[in-house]
Amino acid sequence: ILFVLQCSCKLSKEDEIKNIGFSQCLSNHPWRTSMNESMAIKASLNPQIKLDIKEAKGDGQKQIDDIQSMIDAEMDLIIVSPLDPESIAPVVENAFEAGIPVILIDRKVETEAYTAFIGADNLEVGHNAGNYIASNENGFLKVIEIKGEDNSTPTRERSKGFYEIVDQEDRITVVESFKGVSGAQFSKALDSVGKDIDFVYAFNDELASQAWRIARDKGLASQIKFIGVDGLSVPDGGINMVQNGILNATIYYPTGGAESIDLAWEILNGRSYKKDNILKTIVIDRFNVDIMKNQFDKIQLQQKEIEDQIL
Ligand code: AHR
Repeated sequence: ILFVLQCSCKLSKEDEIKNIGFSQCLSNHPWRTSMNESMAIKASLNPQIKLDIKEAKGDGQKQIDDIQSMIDAEMDLIIVSPLDPESIAPVVENAFEAGIPVILIDRKVETEAYTAFIGADNLEVGHNAGNYIASNENGFLKVIEIKGEDNSTPTRERSKGFYEIVDQEDRITVVESFKGVSGAQFSKALDSVGKDIDFVYAFNDELASQAWRIARDKGLASQIKFIGVDGLSVPDGGINMVQNGILNATIYYPTGGAESIDLAWEILNGRSYKKDNILKTIVIDRFNVDIMKNQFDKIQLQQKEIEDQIL
């Protein structure tokens, strides 16, 4: 009798566990760790959500296999931060066509077969960087651009947005543009044009700091202004680098981790949601860095308290 009772006593709709899979493209990066953590904390606050994070570690085929395994496991919803916008499209379409809602986070995919996107506007990131340089009053300016190393939409759009601004400014010249900071290439550029460089705009804070170190070793760091992207408040993050003068500015780029879980919950419960969910970016420089750091540190403290309660 007990068995029959147990079997017929199904969880009510409100109590059902929702299985969410998250496919993370990269992992050797603090911004990615921060995304995973904020997602995991947010999910752990909802006893009905079970979150499974699979890290592809920069391997495009592994990410495709990870997503396929989430489809096979009939996850209730899949969140994807894609490595490559094209090769991943078919498996994202498979998930969507199998009736599984798909949220793309941070990066886009070359398909319309997804449920929603959440992340910041990378064209705006590029515009912010361009405008920051253009707001410098000192005459003609020479800039080196250090782009992202992959083919992702942030890599493309951060560069596109940047040129949309600087191409309109006759007094700004982009003298070199690299994909990543391969030490030798950047070093060579500094040897030939280094003394005249005014700004380095890098795809993220890590690349900006690598470029800064190379310039420092050549005695050029103090005359070049470095701009990064991400603005994490962690020991080697952009916020600290602005505070200690390594970066002139970092463009805060929210991970969207916690927000993606909120969005997933709305979708899973059949509530109304927006297809495009655009998060705000902020330019952080010496004028607002202390305020921003205080705010981020408060949020981190709250997260830590929640983590301690959960563990
Ligand atoms: O796709 C966004 C970028 O990926 C973040 O800005 C970056 O630093 C990360 O790894």
